[in-house]
Amino acid sequence: MTEPMQPQTPVEVLDAFAPAAALGERICPFPREGDLRSRLEAARYLMAPMAGVTDAAYRLMARRAGAGLAYTEMVSVAGIHYGGETGGQKTWELVLPLDPEPDIAVQLFGSKPEQFREAASRVQERLQGRLALIDINMACPVPKVT
Ligand SMILES: Cc1cc2nc3c(=O)[nH]c(=O)nc-3n(C[C@H](O)[C@H](O)[C@H](O)COP(=O)(O)O)c2cc1C
Repeated sequence: MTEPMQPQTPVEVLDAFAPAAALGERICPFPREGDLRSRLEAARYLMAPMAGVTDAAYRLMARRAGAGLAYTEMVSVAGIHYGGETGGQKTWELVLPLDPEPDIAVQLFGSKPEQFREAASRVQERLQGRLALIDINMACPVPKVT
């Protein structure tokens, strides 16, 4: 007898455990119309950015559990700048949503305004309509980060 295939990708794992975890099948897109305040109010629950935690699998789980929007981990604007046009793969892995994510909030951190400008425009260029908003990390008190 052959063993049943084990789920491999984050999406397969989620699908396999969704019923037991009472996760929904659908993800509601973040509202597209109106000003940011009314869109945030309509979304009701947001999943906050957490470095080392909010990877794509975690975001998908939160969205299927009802979060109206989920954030990336914090993303270095210097990583985007020094990665060049084609490099910086590790940095872009933090930014790019998985296929089932209809949209995403991207949090940037850094210290150089020029690099923020460049990163914001490149993130917008790559994500287009799937970019819900860009957030700026205004510092984190966790000792490892300070
Ligand atoms: C492990 C961990 C990592 C975090 N990383 C970030 C981060 O990268 N950027 C950020 O703005 N906040 C970060 N935070 C703060 C959270 O986004 C959130 O604002 C904080 O936990 C307060 O939310 P709460 O009142 O729902 O607990 C982090 C928090 C935790 C626990």
